[in-house]
Amino acid sequence: MANVKFKVQPGGVITGRIRVPGDKSISHRSIMLGAIAEGTTHVTGFLEGEDSLATLKAFQAMGVRIEGPQDGRVAIEGVGLKGLKKPLHPLDMGNSGTAMRLMAGILAGQDFECELIGDASLSKRPMKRVTEPLNLMGANIETAPGGFPPLKIKGTGTSSLKAIDYTLPMASAQVKSCVLLAGLYAQGTTCTTEPAPTRDHTERMLNGFGYPVHSTKLDSQRTQACLQGGGRLTARPIDVPSDISSAAFFMAAAAVSKGSNLVIEHVGMNPTRVGIVEILKLMGADITLENPHEVGGEPVADIHVRYAPLKGIAIPEALVALAIDEFPVLFVVAATAQGQTVLTGAEELRVKESDRIQVMADALHTVGIDAVPTEDGMVINGGVQTAQKGTILSHHDHRISMAMTIAGLNAVAELTIDDCANVNTSFPTFIKLINQVGMQVDVIKGDL
Ligand code: S3P
Repeated sequence: MANVKFKVQPGGVITGRIRVPGDKSISHRSIMLGAIAEGTTHVTGFLEGEDSLATLKAFQAMGVRIEGPQDGRVAIEGVGLKGLKKPLHPLDMGNSGTAMRLMAGILAGQDFECELIGDASLSKRPMKRVTEPLNLMGANIETAPGGFPPLKIKGTGTSSLKAIDYTLPMASAQVKSCVLLAGLYAQGTTCTTEPAPTRDHTERMLNGFGYPVHSTKLDSQRTQACLQGGGRLTARPIDVPSDISSAAFFMAAAAVSKGSNLVIEHVGMNPTRVGIVEILKLMGADITLENPHEVGGEPVADIHVRYAPLKGIAIPEALVALAIDEFPVLFVVAATAQGQTVLTGAEELRVKESDRIQVMADALHTVGIDAVPTEDGMVINGGVQTAQKGTILSHHDHRISMAMTIAGLNAVAELTIDDCANVNTSFPTFIKLINQVGMQVDVIKGDL
């Protein structure tokens, strides 16, 4: 297999005006809901990354006609809730937990059997969190021992799933979405209650497709979402905003390097995703939101970041779920900020594409940063430059590859990051853009 390494030259000033690719979460959902809707869904701004393409190919394998992607445009000829066909082969979800967990919800309601498989990283990620509620709904799903992929989903035959009222044991939009999508195929009203707010793209998009989801705030943290099974989705155009989780690497880059001044255009600013902006501001970052408006039920804005000195903080736990994918790069920011940054309440980071607490602590140690991993977070003593020349392993995790690239801005020597082809899962244009705004990163291809 070909290996891809990034060679990152130290330093750089980040300037310019850029647009990062489409939101990964919304891109996945546009294919899933478009496929089970009635009519043709036209998507613009679709993320042409490996993760969302895995979802697209899986629905093609189930008989859905999908044209594109071409320049971010996709047309999906919906087959309705019950129109999917048994695939001839196992469906390969690659590196994508979102694809596997959300599709498990849809597939649990079909009358055919199929299998979901994934790559080395996905094959180590916990699936009991979705198979348990789906089994409560009457689904029949087999996993590998320990609750890991592959998932063999037997289908329900001619009977439908049972609606449940499910309280999530962890703050997870994937689990919430899986249960709600299975709820489309259930008799009665399916409800989820989440312990803290998580991204609500599924609820918003279902409502956009004319399928009512009722969300009720139970208190400052818990929200309940309910839907009635057996309705129909009606196709509608979807304009996917730029992914705030991809923008995060550029926000961080501009926030940590002196003299920087960067605008990132048309970024999705869904309130359940903006934890990165809040946390950077608490650290002292100079961030303004310009040109706020709405596209297809999702708020967007241009994010303007100018360099300002940063300080370490205790990250409020209420912001953790709202920035859950951004911690690898936030750890890099914390390493440059004066003083101590403490993260708690983030044990979910241990079950992402890699164990992001351990892997990032190891990566920061490699370059000479004092980072102490804890059960549910990290303590970082920042304010020093990364002292060593180092080689970092990404552990099959795109966000480790990209976060440690940004660490190069505060380095005194060249960094090498090994196993970086995974960046293509979410951000195929990362290297082009990071070089365009002022870093110097070379891509070296070789054998693994
Ligand atoms: C996602 C939910 C989050 C996030 C992932 C995308 C989604 O996962 O980390 O990158 O699109 O629903 P969890 O639900 O496991 O927190």
